[in-house]
Amino acid sequence: MTEPIPQEVLSPLTRSALFLVVTIDPGAESRVRDLLPELSGLQKAVGFRAQEGRLSCVTGIGSQAWDRLFAGPRPAELHPFRELAGPVHRAVATPGDLLFHVRAQRPDLCFALASEIMDRIRDAVTVRDEVHGFKYFDVRDLLGFVDGTENPVGPAAGAAILVGAEDPRFAGGSYVIVQKYLHDLRAWNALPVEAQEMVIGRKKLSDIELDDAVKPPDSHVALTTIVDPDGTKHEILRDNMPFGTVGRGEFGTYFIGYARTPAVTERMLERMFLGDPPARHDRILDFSTPVTGTLFFVPGVDFLDDPPDAPAVAAAPRAEDRVRGDAGTPVDGERPLQQSLGVGDLKGSDL
Ligand code: HEM
Repeated sequence: MTEPIPQEVLSPLTRSALFLVVTIDPGAESRVRDLLPELSGLQKAVGFRAQEGRLSCVTGIGSQAWDRLFAGPRPAELHPFRELAGPVHRAVATPGDLLFHVRAQRPDLCFALASEIMDRIRDAVTVRDEVHGFKYFDVRDLLGFVDGTENPVGPAAGAAILVGAEDPRFAGGSYVIVQKYLHDLRAWNALPVEAQEMVIGRKKLSDIELDDAVKPPDSHVALTTIVDPDGTKHEILRDNMPFGTVGRGEFGTYFIGYARTPAVTERMLERMFLGDPPARHDRILDFSTPVTGTLFFVPGVDFLDDPPDAPAVAAAPRAEDRVRGDAGTPVDGERPLQQSLGVGDLKGSDL
């Protein structure tokens, strides 16, 4: 059997990214299936003209969409994002059938490829969220800290984020969780630097990790470090991006984490939102609020180039696949996501 080829999840971090999350309109599944084999050609067509721009696109597919698009087996651990309600902070689950994570050294390349993708499916999908991210100074987030330092590199990265023999049909794939966080920068900037360092668990200027003796148990680094009693560390690959709209006073971090199993990222989220005594919750959440939360499976290149057949009959949604606000239907008095996020006129007819 030939080695599975992963999508470009392992590509080096870039200066720009565009995150596009859409749901598939009822009855438009075949339009989306037709797009999948076209994606690699579109990436080449846009990226070849500016090869130094390192354009790439990773496509993820959500749990509910999987059964609507494909007959046959599912990735073993694909499920919807699990909402977490802690005593103080909440990780919300929001709708999303497809994720396009477009990366390049230049924003124009991300923009051009995302436009080509949307041209093909614009009347088949509803855009749930669109974020244009940028790298900020020396790889800092808008809290001013260097973000991404402890990412796994080299062979360790592949082992941490690519599915292997545990699910051979989907080897080379990866699970990705995204959350769009908005920061309360006024409150954050009111903290002295030393207090900010206690929230993150690293020095702000030098990016050196605080000594275990001084690092608080409720710091971000303490709660997202998952180590087994035998010393095995469980890692994910992050490519967070700052974003914002200055005039609206909106400043955020788009969190994106790839992992071989979603259980690792979920464990980190549980520790962040539900705490791990003596930590009540991750202090970063006192200044950062997630307004989206979605989980996708990123299949290998071969899968996208030659997707399985469509299901013979439309699949009934599995109980756990019902996500709040699915298919644009506001639930519990909620407004559709576009409105609640204030992300503007993404698809006028749905607002
Ligand atoms: C580490 C920022 C959300 C997982 C870090 C660091 C910063 C940071 C500055 C230290 C430097 C580094 O190693 O990258 C943020 C911001 C977030 C956010 C601004 C959103 C507001 C998350 C979430 C997760 C996560 C939601 C996981 C579910 C991690 C991990 C580390 C880390 C695994 C490395 C821990 C270690 O091994 O030292 N983050 N993060 N982060 N973060 Fe986050």
